[in-house]
Amino acid sequence: MLSFIRQTLKDYYHVGAIAPSSRALARALAKSLEERPPAGAMHVLEVGPGTGALTRGILERLHAGDTLVLCEINPDFASQLAHKFSTDPEFTRWKNATEIICKPVEELATTRSFHHIVCGLPFNNFQPDTVRMIFAKFDALLQKDGTVNFFEYVAIRHLKRLVANRAERQRLESVEAILTKLIANHQFRQQLVLWNLPPAWARSLRFSENGTLMRSGA
Ligand SMILES: C[S@@+](CC[C@H](N)C(=O)[O-])C[C@H]1O[C@@H](n2cnc3c(N)ncnc32)[C@H](O)[C@@H]1O
Repeated sequence: MLSFIRQTLKDYYHVGAIAPSSRALARALAKSLEERPPAGAMHVLEVGPGTGALTRGILERLHAGDTLVLCEINPDFASQLAHKFSTDPEFTRWKNATEIICKPVEELATTRSFHHIVCGLPFNNFQPDTVRMIFAKFDALLQKDGTVNFFEYVAIRHLKRLVANRAERQRLESVEAILTKLIANHQFRQQLVLWNLPPAWARSLRFSENGTLMRSGA
C-alpha cells in the first residue's frame, strides 16, 4: 500500500489512483475469465497491474496450462510484481505461466492474441488520442469474441470537471465521449463495486471481430 502511494505521488498521470483496487473489484473484473475457450488453454493479458491487486483475481480463475502476460509501464511496479511471483504463495504457483513486460501497452507487439484483457489504466488522465490508441491496440490483441474488462471510479469525471479549467474540461468530455460510445456499442456486463476506494464500475466489453472498434468510430 505504501509503495503504491509513493508511486502515485511520483507519477499521478500514469498511476491515477490513491490505493490499489480491492479484492471485490478484482473478482468483478476477472468474471469474464469464467468464459473459457472451447478447447485448449486460455490466454490473458493484464494491462497496468501495478502491485498486483487485480492480478490476484485473475490467478484465481486460471487453470493449468493457461498463460498470463502482465504489461506494466512502471519499472518499480514491474520489479515488485516479479518479486511477488517469487515469494507470495498466491502468485508463485503461476510463475512459469506468467510473463512480465515492462513497457507501455501502446508498444506491445500484436504477434500473439488473448481471450481476455483485464485493464487497470487510468483513462481519465489520458489524452483522447491515447485512449483511442489503447482501445485500438486491445482490439488488435484480442481473439474473436474476446473481452476487455476495465473499471471507472464512480462520478470521478464529474468531480474532476468541477475543478478543471476549460482545456481540462474539454479533454475530460472527449474521453467521456469515447468511453460512452464504446460502452454503448460493446458492453455486455457492468457491476457497481462499492467495496473499493473509491467505489467503481467494473465494465466488460466484447469485440466480436477484430476491427469492430475502429469501424464503430470510437
Ligand atoms: C490505477 S493504477 C492500477 C493498478 C492496479 N491494477 C490496481 O487496480 O490496483 C494504473 C496502473 O497502470 C500503469 N500504466 C499506466 N499507463 C500505462 C501504459 N500505457 N501501459 C502499461 N501500464 C500503464 C501504471 O503504472 C499503474 O500501475
